[in-house]
Amino acid sequence: MARIPDDLIDSIRSQADIVDIVSDFVSLRKSGKNYLGLCPFHDEKTPSFSVNPERQIFHCFGCGKGGSVFSFLMEHENVSFVEAVRHVARRLNITIPDTYREREASSEAESLGRVTRFAARFFHERLLNSDQGSIVRRYTEKRGLSDETIKSFGLGYAPDSWNDLLNEARKQGIDAAWLVKAGLAKTGEQRTYDAFRNRLIFPIQAPGGRVVGFGGRALSDEDQPKYLNSPESPIYRKSQVLYGLYQAREFFRQQGRLLLVEGYMDLLGLHQHGVHGAVAVCGTALTREQARLAARHGQQAFLVYDSDPAGTRATWRAIEPLVEAGLWTRIVRLPEGYDPDSYVAEHGPDGFMKRVEQADSIADFMGYHANLQESGDREEVFRTLAGLIRKTTNLVHRERYREEAERRFPALQGLLASELRSPGAGRRGRGAPQAQEERVRGEAPVERGLVQLMLNDRAIAELVERQLEPDDFSHPLYHRIVEHCFARLADEGTYDLSGLIDTIDDDETRRIITELINTVDSGIQLEQRARDHVTRIKQKRLKESMTRLMDQIKQMEKGGRSSELTEAMATYMELKHQEKALLQSARGD
Ligand code: UTP
Ligand code: MN
Repeated sequence: MARIPDDLIDSIRSQADIVDIVSDFVSLRKSGKNYLGLCPFHDEKTPSFSVNPERQIFHCFGCGKGGSVFSFLMEHENVSFVEAVRHVARRLNITIPDTYREREASSEAESLGRVTRFAARFFHERLLNSDQGSIVRRYTEKRGLSDETIKSFGLGYAPDSWNDLLNEARKQGIDAAWLVKAGLAKTGEQRTYDAFRNRLIFPIQAPGGRVVGFGGRALSDEDQPKYLNSPESPIYRKSQVLYGLYQAREFFRQQGRLLLVEGYMDLLGLHQHGVHGAVAVCGTALTREQARLAARHGQQAFLVYDSDPAGTRATWRAIEPLVEAGLWTRIVRLPEGYDPDSYVAEHGPDGFMKRVEQADSIADFMGYHANLQESGDREEVFRTLAGLIRKTTNLVHRERYREEAERRFPALQGLLASELRSPGAGRRGRGAPQAQEERVRGEAPVERGLVQLMLNDRAIAELVERQLEPDDFSHPLYHRIVEHCFARLADEGTYDLSGLIDTIDDDETRRIITELINTVDSGIQLEQRARDHVTRIKQKRLKESMTRLMDQIKQMEKGGRSSELTEAMATYMELKHQEKALLQSARGD
């Protein structure tokens, strides 16, 4: 991705209105100086998501997320910093010049993105322009794909030709080598030819909407393989993409639940019948990254894989990543031989949703599929269940999974309880940052208070800069924030907090900053309070030095090193004197 010059970023930031941009995604209402809405980053019923127009930051008092307009877009739309800046620039009608330098620096990824965008458009137009009687139109008809579905998912047709795509690319000045890199063309002994021929095309989109790859289905049974998929490329990491997520995002946010299916046609079949909010793994094993990606958009996952041995095996393997990602996980059982597409075609959306409502718990699923008469299998199931429950970082889920497991397998009762009490149970993951924040909140209250004042008032930041060094802040978090504040002061005329936030790439630090900014109480005697804090920090540093020195003095007395001892005592008295002077000046006498 091309770099955007810093001054241009600053200019875009200063013209942006965070309330405007967040309002595209969250419905906000004014409340005092700020705006309030339902947090898009966690599930809530009463609004705790606050946007501060004066500071140009957002902060959620529920989940703690916070940041600038750019971090909002990065998190919410799952895009890079540069893409977030571009988004805001577009909204403001600011053109980011495509300078020579930039084009040169433009990465392979950007060129690939251009090629996939071109190809997606090419395929889509070919489908839209195909006659009703054509082979592809007869196929879409047979599969019941409506024009609405074709448009929403940008479906396309790769013509029955060896070089239609290559020729069109040449006309548009796109080098064949790029098509090869993107997996859209192949190089044989004699020549380069189109990779997708006579297939229905499913463009695969990254969560932000960019087309990164393609799947292509054969139009007849003789044509093998049934599905052809683009290879991985710098923009297409199969482990990080879920087919249909882009279209389903809004739905997830509203409903909180997602359906995981195996195939393109499962997802489209459901969509056709008005069952939204599905994503497809497209025949690969669900990865941790995909599960985490899903968990960013919803809270509950329903696995609806094909009801055949392969689908059942894939379901077993998908459970753990989902549970670990913090998704409340359920398994939908379809009658033998069905997949979501064929089931919904036969039983309609209501029939399908009834299956979803009756979904199995993990324990039920395992109990159903394992051969529990075999003691080896039974133990395997117990171990797997206990392991899963232990890995569940969401404590509410953990309890519920445990209850379900014990209900299904009463023999597990005592066992699970002791498993879960064992050391190491439920560490890491989601619960952890929360706990860490709790800890931070209670620590170093004076440093915290001073940092809060510094963040809210430039004059105070300057006062502190004259009086203290970042090293005077002993808590690593506050130390880091103070360093950033000082750098911001030195850097430029404006003390721009949302800009400061963008220089910080650590989530937790950002959360603390936005929380501190949003929780400052009224502006009474800010400066006096700041001075008090400075005094207490200085005094604390002096006391620490004195304690260290006194330890040394005691050692020296034992060792009988008298000249050093005299010197150390003098230093000690000097520190004592400094402390007294400090307190006197603080009292103003
Ligand atoms: P399925 O064989 O279940 O296909 O493979 P399907 O989704 O039900 O499709 P239709 O209804 O027969 O057209 C599930 C998924 O596995 C991947 C595809 O992503 C497919 O959607 N797959 C399958 C391949 O990548 N290659 C193949 O040859 C077959
Ligand atoms: Mn299938």
